[in-house]
Amino acid sequence: MARRKKIYEGKAKTLYEGPEPGTVVQYFKDDATAFNAEKKDVAEGKGVLNNLLSEFFMTGLTNVGIPNHFLRRLNMREQLVRACEIVPLEVIVRNYAAGSMAQRLGIDEGTQLPRPIVEYCLKDDALGDPLVTEEHIAAFGWATQQDMDDILSLALRVNDFMSGVMFGVGIRLVDFKIEVGRVYEGDFQRLIVADEISPDSCRLWDIESGRKLDKDVFRRDLGSLTDAYSEVANRLGVMPKGATPINRPTLIN
Ligand code: TMP
Ligand code: ASP
Repeated sequence: MARRKKIYEGKAKTLYEGPEPGTVVQYFKDDATAFNAEKKDVAEGKGVLNNLLSEFFMTGLTNVGIPNHFLRRLNMREQLVRACEIVPLEVIVRNYAAGSMAQRLGIDEGTQLPRPIVEYCLKDDALGDPLVTEEHIAAFGWATQQDMDDILSLALRVNDFMSGVMFGVGIRLVDFKIEVGRVYEGDFQRLIVADEISPDSCRLWDIESGRKLDKDVFRRDLGSLTDAYSEVANRLGVMPKGATPINRPTLIN
C-alpha cells in the first residue's frame, strides 16, 4: 500500500494529504505541550478525546450555520477536513479573565469581563505567538479589513454557540482560541473555522466546583489531563463506547 503524504507535523496533530483533492486528514496525537513546547508529556488517550470532541463541536457549528472545515471522522484518531489556507493568527475570545490576559492586565483569574473580548496573536512559534493589533494585521497584510470583519463575526458566533453548549453541561467557557482558514469557491473566497476546538484550545471550568477541565491541568500540574478531558466528553455524551473516566478510551491507531 502506498504511504500517504505527510503535509505538516504540529505539536498536537499531524496533517496528511486526504483521499480526494481539497481534503486533508488530521491525526490527533497524545502529545501535550505548553509554553511553546518547553513543557512536554504524553497524555494517553488525549488524541482520541480531542478528535471526538472537535468532531462534536464542529458538527454543532455546522448545525447552526457556522462554516468550518470538518467533513467527517475517519476513525478514533483521524478526521477528514477541507483543505484551507490558514490565516496566520490565533483568534482568542475571552469571557472571564484568565491566563495571559489576567497576568498582562493584573486582573484576578475568574473575573467576568464586561463583554467578550477578542484578541489576536501572530502564529509564529519562534516568536512565541505575540499579541498583535488590527493595525499590525492590516499593515503587514496578514488579513484584510473584510477578513477581520468576518473573523470577528465568526469568533463571536463560535463563542455564543460554545458558551451555550458548555453551560448546558455545567461548564463555564472562560476563553478559547480558534484558527481560521481561507477557502476558494470559484471567484470568491470565504473564511471558515479550522484547526480544532477541544480542551487543548479552550479554558473550561466546572461551574459548581471551579475545577479546571482543560489544558491548564497540564500547564499547571493539576492532575490527569485525560481524566479532565474525559469528564468533558462524558458530560457531552461523546465518550468512546465502553469507556468511562476511569476506564479510559482504548487507543486505536
Ligand atoms: P492564554 O491565556 O494563555 O493567552 O490562552 C488563551 C486561550 O487560548 C486559552 O483558552 C488557551 C488557548 N491557547 C491555545 O489554544 N494555544 C496556545 O498556544 C495558547 C498560548 C493558548
Ligand atoms: N500550544 C502551545 C505549546 O504547545 C502553548 C499552550 O497551549 O500553552 O507550547
